[in-house]
Amino acid sequence: MDIIRQVNEMMRWVREQRASGEEIGVVPTMGYLHEGHLSLCRLSSADGGRTVVTVFVNPTQFGAGEDLARYPRDEERDLKMLRELGISAVFLPTPEEMYPPDYVTYVETGGPSQGWCGATRPTHFRGVTTVISQMFHILQPNRAYFGQKDAQQVAVLKQMVRDLKFPIQVIVGEIVREPDGLAMSSRNTYLTAEDRKAALVLFRALQLGRDLYKQGEHSGERLTKAMLRVTAAEPHVRPDYIGVVNRRCFRAVEEVSPEDLLIGAIYVGSCRLIDNLDVSPQVYPLRD
Ligand code: PAF
Repeated sequence: MDIIRQVNEMMRWVREQRASGEEIGVVPTMGYLHEGHLSLCRLSSADGGRTVVTVFVNPTQFGAGEDLARYPRDEERDLKMLRELGISAVFLPTPEEMYPPDYVTYVETGGPSQGWCGATRPTHFRGVTTVISQMFHILQPNRAYFGQKDAQQVAVLKQMVRDLKFPIQVIVGEIVREPDGLAMSSRNTYLTAEDRKAALVLFRALQLGRDLYKQGEHSGERLTKAMLRVTAAEPHVRPDYIGVVNRRCFRAVEEVSPEDLLIGAIYVGSCRLIDNLDVSPQVYPLRD
């Protein structure tokens, strides 16, 4: 497994692979890997060619006062996990490599980046689209793999790929959950035992939304109210948002249909967690 830290070196590696006819799949991550990331790596490996995993805690997607400084990092642990998976290369640039002191260019999307996480974290998606554009230019991948856990990020990145004509297929892997239903996230390490128990309320609320839909409740507003009642009953958490959206444009829906998404974000302890559930189960990976 090649470990590459410099942009020039990474670009040279990509040129060599391309010259020998290899396709490239990329799994962008911020490290502190868990089963969710590893499942994306396995999808990429199964699709063939070379898999490159990027490990970069991207400073531009964190707002002032957010958890950039304490975001969990463990390079040795990440590399060990990736070696065991047979990954071809890992790209670990420094912040200075990606954002030299004279860096001034940002990628700004409208549409699906508005509202929800975009309202609570107004500069977040601009940071994500900027760093992913850089990674796409450096790595020239045929395929890029993202997790459904960050459903709004998926919608924003698909929009960017369409609008900016990146010749890249975006493939979306299923949410990987702990046995009790908690969606896997590197940020789960912030949770105390008490926080962790309380955090499950979000998944319970989304499951109730799905059950009510199955029973015939198709009003987005009534489903949202029912889910909010569940989170409000857990005093240890504070809801950020709960809603039902169209998975492509991320607008709230009035009349819910099977491809829509139930979404939520909560604050628990010192942590903000997001999760979502398909109104009707979809077949993953999504390769549209
Ligand atoms: O989902 C993440 O871990 C990050 O937002 C990403 C896509 C790697 C960009 O920094």
